[in-house]
Amino acid sequence: MKKTVTILLASLLTVILGCASYEPLVSMRGADVAAVDAAPDAKAYVGKRPGTQPLVARTFSTQPPVIPHAVDNFDEVTLTENQCLDCHGPDNYVKKNSPKLGDSHFVAATKAFDASRHVCTSCHVAQVDAPALVENRFIGNIK
Ligand code: HEC
Ligand code: HEC
Repeated sequence: MKKTVTILLASLLTVILGCASYEPLVSMRGADVAAVDAAPDAKAYVGKRPGTQPLVARTFSTQPPVIPHAVDNFDEVTLTENQCLDCHGPDNYVKKNSPKLGDSHFVAATKAFDASRHVCTSCHVAQVDAPALVENRFIGNIK
């Protein structure tokens, strides 16, 4: 009995000492875990109006090319609207003097536009001049 009491007291002492040396955790991002992330500053696109800049070199063979121009007024793709196609689509690219959609954007058998490519910006992205968030040692496979 006496032994049990001693063990109990010793355990209690350990807990109390443990609590005394407790330091609150500080998260690496410096904010409470439940706090909403602050929105980053909106940066201006590096490119200007379509038709005024060279294409950006690709870095790997199957890369969707990045968008060299700004997309401020026409990046909203909806079910019925897609302004990217107004310039890049098969019916318009010649008169709009724009690069034509890649061959992979058409259904092989029918040559029709493949609707699974409708949301262009899920693969193609316009560029802003932002510092890399993490170290990046990527090396492309195009010489
Ligand atoms: C007003 C016409 C126009 C519109 C609208 C437009 N583009 Fe372009 N796009 C161009 C032209 C012209 C170029 C050639 C580069 C330049 O001059 O900016 C180009 C270049 C590109 C390229 C680079 C192709 C390559 O081979 O490197 C991609 C990708 C692209 N556009 C995607 C898009 C997407 C996605 C949208 C919709 C968000 C869009 N464009 C809207 C005219 C347009
Ligand atoms: C699923 C990803 C994906 C989607 C969605 C997509 N693309 Fe592409 N795009 C690519 C890839 C990958 C290439 C590289 C060449 C290829 O595979 O045809 C490319 C190439 C291009 C090119 C350059 C063609 C060339 O000379 O190689 C243009 C212009 C382009 N896409 C415009 C668009 C537009 C406009 C849309 C929306 C209507 C769109 N893409 C949707 C992946 C995509």
